[in-house]
Amino acid sequence: MLVVGASGNIGGAVVSALTRAGLAARAAGTHPTALENRYPGVEVARLDLLDPTTFAPALDGAAGMFLVRPPAIAKVGPTLNALLGVAERLQVGHVVFSSVTGADTNRVVPHHRVEERLRESALSWTILRPGFFSQNLADAYRSDIVNDDRILLPSGEGRAAFIDTRDIGDVAALVFAAPDAHRSAGYVLTGPQALNFDDVAALLTSELGRPIRYEPTSALPYLRHVHAQGRPWVQAIVQTVLHTGLRRGQAENVDPTLERLLGRPGRTLAQYVHDNRELWASPA
Ligand SMILES: NC(=O)c1ccc[n+]([C@@H]2O[C@H](COP(=O)([O-])OP(=O)(O)OC[C@H]3O[C@@H](n4cnc5c(N)ncnc54)[C@H](OP(=O)(O)O)[C@@H]3O)[C@@H](O)[C@H]2O)c1
Repeated sequence: MLVVGASGNIGGAVVSALTRAGLAARAAGTHPTALENRYPGVEVARLDLLDPTTFAPALDGAAGMFLVRPPAIAKVGPTLNALLGVAERLQVGHVVFSSVTGADTNRVVPHHRVEERLRESALSWTILRPGFFSQNLADAYRSDIVNDDRILLPSGEGRAAFIDTRDIGDVAALVFAAPDAHRSAGYVLTGPQALNFDDVAALLTSELGRPIRYEPTSALPYLRHVHAQGRPWVQAIVQTVLHTGLRRGQAENVDPTLERLLGRPGRTLAQYVHDNRELWASPA
């Protein structure tokens, strides 16, 4: 199975889950040497979504493909959808696309056009639509937690049903193990409980043994803050919109699908923080 985005949150979890399940993974990305070092014994392929000449060699002989949209790629036509065209031509057995909650109806998100392309294709496919990631704590919020002992967000009292991307990897492996059972299905995936950011701060405080506070802010100061941290404006705007949307309950729904598929509850945010506590160690 070719795994796009193998160095990332979801793709990394998919490579690990496939390997654990005894299914062959081919880790793909723009830095093959880094992938070889990270996954000893796993086949690696160079795949650059901005370079179509890499598509067919990466997919050659693959029984399936796991696809994710890298956050930096907004134009999906010449990138992800072109890759799907090559997969179609090479008759790749099954495609699992990790999309985002709501992308089936929300035409604004780029994932929508990938979902459309898949539905129109001759490919066999499954779409996963995950909600808010636990791994955001190690990505978007990490430097605020490490350097300032705070989570700064424009999310008010909003709650999110945090999903651990390791569970998305487990679902992808389960689908690849029996694709016929999941053909043409779209699965909304969330974590097992909805927490607000006071809850998240309390959880970090208890796990890290130093006080971490939640500092609610409004959209504009947050946008400037994220951009000052080095994110391009477009990504900073997307991040601000997503976190402001939490106030309106956009990510608080807990969906039973993940537990039904895996036969166990999803990993909690507490579990994720416990397993990765060194990520937020104080520089002191
Ligand atoms: N954060 C959330 O709460 C959340 C919730 C639901 C859905 N999502 C969606 O999940 C996706 C992000 O997943 P993630 O967190 O796993 O991303 P991530 O950790 O940022 O990883 C992105 C991956 O994309 C690869 N990539 C970047 N540019 C590439 C290129 N030109 N060609 C090939 N690969 C490239 C990177 O690999 P290289 O290092 O090899 O370039 C990396 O492995 C987005 O579509 C987002 O909308 C996020």
